Amino acid sequence: MQILTTAAALHAYTETARRAGQRVGLVPTMGALHDGHLQLVQAARAQCNVVVASIFVNPTQFNNAEDFRLYPRVPEADAALLAPAGCTALFTPSVEEMYPRPTVLRFDFGDLERVMEGAHRPGHFNGVATVVSKLFHMARPHQAFFGQKDWQQVAIIRQLVADLSFDLEIVTCPTIREADGLAMSSRNCRLDAPARAVAPLLHQVLEAAAAQVRQGVPPAQVKAAADATLAAEPLLTPEYVEVADAETLQPLDVYAPGRAVVLCLAAHLGGVRLIDNVVVE
Ligand code: PAF
Repeated sequence: MQILTTAAALHAYTETARRAGQRVGLVPTMGALHDGHLQLVQAARAQCNVVVASIFVNPTQFNNAEDFRLYPRVPEADAALLAPAGCTALFTPSVEEMYPRPTVLRFDFGDLERVMEGAHRPGHFNGVATVVSKLFHMARPHQAFFGQKDWQQVAIIRQLVADLSFDLEIVTCPTIREADGLAMSSRNCRLDAPARAVAPLLHQVLEAAAAQVRQGVPPAQVKAAADATLAAEPLLTPEYVEVADAETLQPLDVYAPGRAVVLCLAAHLGGVRLIDNVVVE
């Protein structure tokens, strides 16, 4: 596995592959890799000849300086996991390499970002769209792979690709969960034992809500029941629970026939912010 640290080296690597007729897959990450990331790499390797994973804790997408400071960084352990999963090159740029000068461009994704993560983390999706656009330009992948756990992020990136005519395909891979249902996340390693014991409740709440959606329980009742269960757990501080259209992400008053529903939540648990979602087709 090659280690690349500059945009020029990444560009040269992927252009050489392209000229040789090879397909290029990109797996953007912020490191502290877990099985969810490794499955993205494996999915990429199944469809592409070369797979670039990027590890870059992107400062522009953190609206909370403490969250940025505490974000786990384990570069050696990450590098050791990537090659066996099928990664052929690791891109680990510095902040100066990605942002040689402060960016002034501002993205506005309209209603897609006025809800959930966008509403609760001002500027977050501007930072995501900025860094993902840079990575797409630098790597020019045929396909880029993202996890379903960040459902709204994937919707934003799909919009970005469509609006800016990036010539690539976005592939979404399923959320990978621990045996007790907790969605894998780089932040999970920051949960202490009591918080870790409570954490599976998030997925349990989503599964109970999904069962209600399948039974046709109105969205407001589904949301109220989920809110009440989360509020009853003293270690949890819920941020939001939404019953939304899976594509537009707009909160639902009623279900529309034939349209998928996404149930999303965010909560603080022992000082760690966690998100999760379940889609009901
Ligand atoms: O999902 C993430 O890890 C990040 O938001 C991403 C897509 C790598 C951009 O920094």
